[in-house]
Amino acid sequence: KRWFAVIGDPIAHSKSPAMHNGWFDELNIDATYIPIHVKSEQLEHAIASLKTLGASGWNVTIPHKQAIIPFLDELDEMAEKMGAVNTVVRTADGKLKGYNTDGSGFVHSLEEAVGDGQKEKPVLLIGAGGAARGIAFALQYYGYRNLAITNRTVAKAEEIIHELGEGQALSLADAEQRLDEFGIIIQCTSAGLANGEFSLPLSLEKLQQGTIVADIVYNPLMTPFLLEAQKKDAIVVTGLGMFVHQGAIAFNHWLGQYPNTEHTTKKLIDELQ
Ligand code: ATR
Repeated sequence: KRWFAVIGDPIAHSKSPAMHNGWFDELNIDATYIPIHVKSEQLEHAIASLKTLGASGWNVTIPHKQAIIPFLDELDEMAEKMGAVNTVVRTADGKLKGYNTDGSGFVHSLEEAVGDGQKEKPVLLIGAGGAARGIAFALQYYGYRNLAITNRTVAKAEEIIHELGEGQALSLADAEQRLDEFGIIIQCTSAGLANGEFSLPLSLEKLQQGTIVADIVYNPLMTPFLLEAQKKDAIVVTGLGMFVHQGAIAFNHWLGQYPNTEHTTKKLIDELQ
């Protein structure tokens, strides 16, 4: 029996085990997927144990996505650019290869929701942390060429733009003023997550109706940001699809099959509502 895992701290609330085990059942794959609580100081030992005990692959979540890199043998191009890994594959010769499926998961989810014919639209990414970084590289990879990044700390947005080699960095005030120029707006900050406090990373006053507005947070499914955008008749995309597709792409790296994401998304929506 093959087995897989997700390592992180905390890990108890992860929805990945139920999602992957559901896919194994649906596809009649004799495998199992377990959550493992790994603290930062245990990371190196945990990886050695996963190898010794024969895990076929695992997901990596907070706080290990960057810290795991020195312990891997190879990195996929996207993971290398992002400097972060969320999926490890144990190759046939026993080597550990790191991938990052978060950014691609977002793009798959966006395109599942609104189609892939929106690549010419100007995109505004709000935030310049790890999540925004991954999405910026994935958007560029999939052909979204007109990218702006805004962040409370503009220097961090400038850094990502510099690495991308194209696009522009904006202050939050400039982005608010020019909000009507963007066809796709993606909320990648952790603003509004703390203690259920209501705060938007920027004002949506100038939001045009019909703009595609996505959030990477999926719990709650409708974030304050998406609720505000919906009031202004935006097309909203919740963060749930990104979670499901990052898992589906990881699953595909391990097993060479893309699982059914629709069922899973419906099941998770029922749980979250
Ligand atoms: P992640 O890995 O989830 O992206 P992160 O790297 O800690 O997390 O990044 C958090 C992002 O949320 C950053 O863009 C941060 O802005 P700064 O770079 O200026 O810190 C943004 N953020 C967090 N709280 C915010 C708030 N109250 N208002 C605006 N932006 C906020």
